[in-house]
Amino acid sequence: MVKVRTVKCFNGIEIPIIGLGTGNSKPGEVTQAVKDAIKIGYRLIDCAYVYGNEKEVGEALSAVFAEGIVKREDVFITSKLWNTFHRPDLVEKALKETLTNLKLDYLDLYLIHWPMAYKEEAELFPRREDGTIIFSDVDYVDTWKELEKLQEKGLVKSIGLSNFNEKQIERVLSIAKIKPVNLQVECHPYLNQKKLIDFCKSKGITVTAYSPLGSPDRPFAKPGDVELLKDPKLTGIAAKYNKSPAQILLRFQVDRGIIVIPKSVNKNRLQQNFDIFDFTLSSEDLAVLDSFNCNGRILKLEAAIGHPHHPFETQ
Ligand code: A2P
Repeated sequence: MVKVRTVKCFNGIEIPIIGLGTGNSKPGEVTQAVKDAIKIGYRLIDCAYVYGNEKEVGEALSAVFAEGIVKREDVFITSKLWNTFHRPDLVEKALKETLTNLKLDYLDLYLIHWPMAYKEEAELFPRREDGTIIFSDVDYVDTWKELEKLQEKGLVKSIGLSNFNEKQIERVLSIAKIKPVNLQVECHPYLNQKKLIDFCKSKGITVTAYSPLGSPDRPFAKPGDVELLKDPKLTGIAAKYNKSPAQILLRFQVDRGIIVIPKSVNKNRLQQNFDIFDFTLSSEDLAVLDSFNCNGRILKLEAAIGHPHHPFETQ
């Protein structure tokens, strides 16, 4: 089997450049998807507590380990600390619950999922009657110090951030004993994140792109929303290379050195998304894809607008 290309972090760990996203995967579908992905050659599985399917991902992982398809050290498992567990005394407990669900004794990478803390020890989305989220005033720099302890205890190999903006990353760097190795953000041609990626590169932080296909299955899609996979300029490039639009979007990230985690629960699409290493995009076509950039953010987290740590400018 061909070894998947990796991106090296400043601490020496290597992250596979393509992995499986599990964000919108239903618990009843994700176990098979993870097993299929590992058999195809995927070595990075991206999880999160809030996805509500970590137990089912864990079933797949224990099955592939038991069958001898891969060893624990051959796969790179990421998960994320949810917003209701930012308070320092809750962080280790939250990680341990994730480890129990995934049936693992360590994670390769643990991220703070969002910079905003929500009211602790309630539902994952604690809301007022009017639907707005109830916030907590825990500061993410205090949460970061707890993640450092998890790494020192060997419960996680590396730590990082997700959905943080440049200023927020700077603040973490200013207090960090252990620097974040990775930032995971929404990234696709409609939101190419060039400035943020350049900033991360200057700080030695690797970047992972979520929603690389524009998340056509997002539950909050509205009628009339533009669909990236159907963009005529994209389908034109795909036809030229005899590849699918999804393969072009994934190759676009790989060519920029960005780790990419498309979600799929379909075996053929899992295979297709992994088969992106037998072509390269010309610099002209990369420039066309770059020109799609239009601040086309999909996940704006409107319910948390007003939170002092909300990371996006869409407020
Ligand atoms: P499915 O799971 O049925 O394959 P993103 O990673 O940007 O969030 O996008 C995930 C969505 O894109 C899911 O709806 C997934 O559906 C779909 N998808 C995954 N791979 C492909 C592909 N190669 N072509 C078209 N749609 C895809």
